[in-house]
Amino acid sequence: MSEKNSKQFGSKVGLVAATVGSAVGLGNIWRFPAEAQSNGGAAFLLLYVICILVLGIPVMLAEFSLGRAGRSDAYGVFRKLAPGKKWWMIGVLGIVASYAITCFYSVVTGWTLEYLVQSITGGLYDGIPAVSPGGDFSVADAGFQAKMTQYISTPWTPLIFTWLVLLVNMLVLARGVQKGIEKLSNILMPMLFVVLVALCCVTLTLPGAGAGVEWFLSPDFSKITASTVINAMGQTFFSLSLGMGTLITYAAYYPSDTKLASTSGIVSMMSVIVALLMGFVIFPAVSSFGLDGHSLVGTTLVFQTLPEVFACLPGTQIWSILFFTLLFAAALTSTVSIIEVTLAFIQNRFKLPRIKATVLTILPLFALSALCSLSFSSMSEVKIFGLTFFDLFDVLATNVLLPVGAIFICIYLGWCAPKNLLKDQLTNGGTIRSHIAGVVLFIIRWVAPALIFTVLVAPLFK
Ligand code: TRP
Repeated sequence: MSEKNSKQFGSKVGLVAATVGSAVGLGNIWRFPAEAQSNGGAAFLLLYVICILVLGIPVMLAEFSLGRAGRSDAYGVFRKLAPGKKWWMIGVLGIVASYAITCFYSVVTGWTLEYLVQSITGGLYDGIPAVSPGGDFSVADAGFQAKMTQYISTPWTPLIFTWLVLLVNMLVLARGVQKGIEKLSNILMPMLFVVLVALCCVTLTLPGAGAGVEWFLSPDFSKITASTVINAMGQTFFSLSLGMGTLITYAAYYPSDTKLASTSGIVSMMSVIVALLMGFVIFPAVSSFGLDGHSLVGTTLVFQTLPEVFACLPGTQIWSILFFTLLFAAALTSTVSIIEVTLAFIQNRFKLPRIKATVLTILPLFALSALCSLSFSSMSEVKIFGLTFFDLFDVLATNVLLPVGAIFICIYLGWCAPKNLLKDQLTNGGTIRSHIAGVVLFIIRWVAPALIFTVLVAPLFK
């Protein structure tokens, strides 16, 4: 196989699985239900879908087009398409953002791995009293809360799990695009959907599940405010992996006959479906067990509320293992995509063999992610601008670098890139028809930069 082909995805299914793998992650599984609960249920879902259509898909197509036209990493693409200009700085921004995201994302992925291990050994459910649906959950609740504190706020164990996550990433990424990323996604993605549907079937048939479904599906429009809209936009960016060159990097591995528009449609739809299924897992369970009063904050939701639900089901450990496997799989395929942004850059820029580049990219992460992991224990008092390292990396990357990156991507493609770049990419050089090129260009030029700018500055006026 030639060098060129091994740096491309091998099949259509594989490239979709890898891109969906990047998109579907902690953002859909733990962030979405929590956001939906506090932002009006189906009303938030509706907003999320609207944001995906008007903002998510066009920006995704912008990244796809740049990646496949430039066929390089996030930095190299701009070097190639705009030689002698400063646009490569967008790529550098993306690489910095992706590095920062990896640091905290791998810590949370480490927690999911620890929970998986604790589900397998049964340690997670040791000493927690059995409660039947509708009973008093306060003791179990306190029990799981204590476990969570025990697991994530001791120094060593979470750190070791974070490092294990980095090690797994290293093993996958060193194998390259086809044999590493694509193969992993081909196995884990279908598995994730099967487990999610199975979990849904269980929670939907619980006694009293109907009330949860009804709550989730009846939109409460009174909850929609400016900040809901802003949250929905933030959720769109994070859950579709936009704004820092992940999709530029992946699209560089797309064959030239890949239909970008339909790929973006499938990836977005999968992302919505996973969020929706997660809603069908959580809300019926919450109503059935009488946990309605609980506010579902992301961390508590997956590490506390769901274990409570599993504790009440027959086959507790099996459901627990299935769920944390699902969560780990989703998170792993996302971390792989985030690290690939920097890895591709290092590999191209310094012309290194894949394995060397992988080690060079991931080694510093062992130290940087330790700062984030220890933010919950021995370094919880170390603060910069009032934030622990974990929060600093999260806020900086998610709230600042991603939207800034996305605005510049839109401005470059909309106003400065070679005139027919987008149209050429959407029509595969004129070989297929595209009805949306005009609309997408309009959004990328005007609508997206304005909306993203709003997301970016809104917190300043809170
Ligand atoms: N989309 C992933 C999730 O929902 C996370 C992710 C992967 C990401 N790559 C990204 C977020 C790039 C922002 C930018 O969990």
